[in-house]
Amino acid sequence: MTNKMETILHCHDIVKIYDDGELKVKVLQGITLDVYKGELLMLVGPSGCGKTTFVSVVTGLLGFEAGECKVLGRDLSKMSDEEKTTFRGKEIGFVFQAFNLIPALSAIENIALPLTIFGTDKKEALSRSLKILKAVGLEGKENFLPGNLSGGQQQKVAIARALVHNPTLVICDEPTSSLDHKSGQMVMELLTKLIKEKNMTMIVVTHDNRIYKYADRIAYMEDGKIKKIEEVSK
Ligand SMILES: Nc1ncnc2c1ncn2[C@@H]1O[C@H](COP(=O)(O)OP(=O)(O)OP(=O)(O)O)[C@@H](O)[C@H]1O
Ligand SMILES: [Mg+2]
Repeated sequence: MTNKMETILHCHDIVKIYDDGELKVKVLQGITLDVYKGELLMLVGPSGCGKTTFVSVVTGLLGFEAGECKVLGRDLSKMSDEEKTTFRGKEIGFVFQAFNLIPALSAIENIALPLTIFGTDKKEALSRSLKILKAVGLEGKENFLPGNLSGGQQQKVAIARALVHNPTLVICDEPTSSLDHKSGQMVMELLTKLIKEKNMTMIVVTHDNRIYKYADRIAYMEDGKIKKIEEVSK
């Protein structure tokens, strides 16, 4: 359930400029947006309008030039790079279009990675990973390498990896664009079910209007600005 009292992400007038020395491009031109606990917010808009830049800024992967950004009450502009890395490792899960699995690691090892990187004991990490691998419907595929799984199955591994450390906020950038329609719907069903069960908050960047129905709200972005926000009736 969306609880409008609890803000997970607060953005006020964020400006991001790419500057390669010769050319300055103002990619985010004053983004103001709040995302609430438990909701699935979709961020949509034409290619190049700044969606990936926006999610990179709000997760501290990219700096920004002006405005305010608070994630779980923490002011990003006041955190060091090291603090941001630790914060991301604990609180944020990422799912990308290209799955980004490590080809030489098995499904279960890929899932366990965010835990082992941040110091969870290997046995404990594998047991938690096995639990979520089963939850995404991949029982029996533990030891498969990504190359031997279908696109939809690889994205399920990526989802399990994104959620295994119980993040508060999950960011998905085009999670269904490499998948056929049926796998895309399956992936969205799964993501929605898991995040609602765990009361996580999710931002999904997408071009795919066939998945808009899974959103609680849709934010339309154009030329570095949010043009309108729509509630999705269920
Ligand atoms: N590192 C960079 N340096 C300079 N310009 C960049 C850089 N990264 C992105 N851009 C430019 O910023 C704009 C926004 O890019 P961004 O990747 O955020 O768009 P997007 O909305 O995610 O697009 P798509 O839907 O195609 O993924 C684009 O014009 C892009 O060329
Ligand atoms: Mg993008």
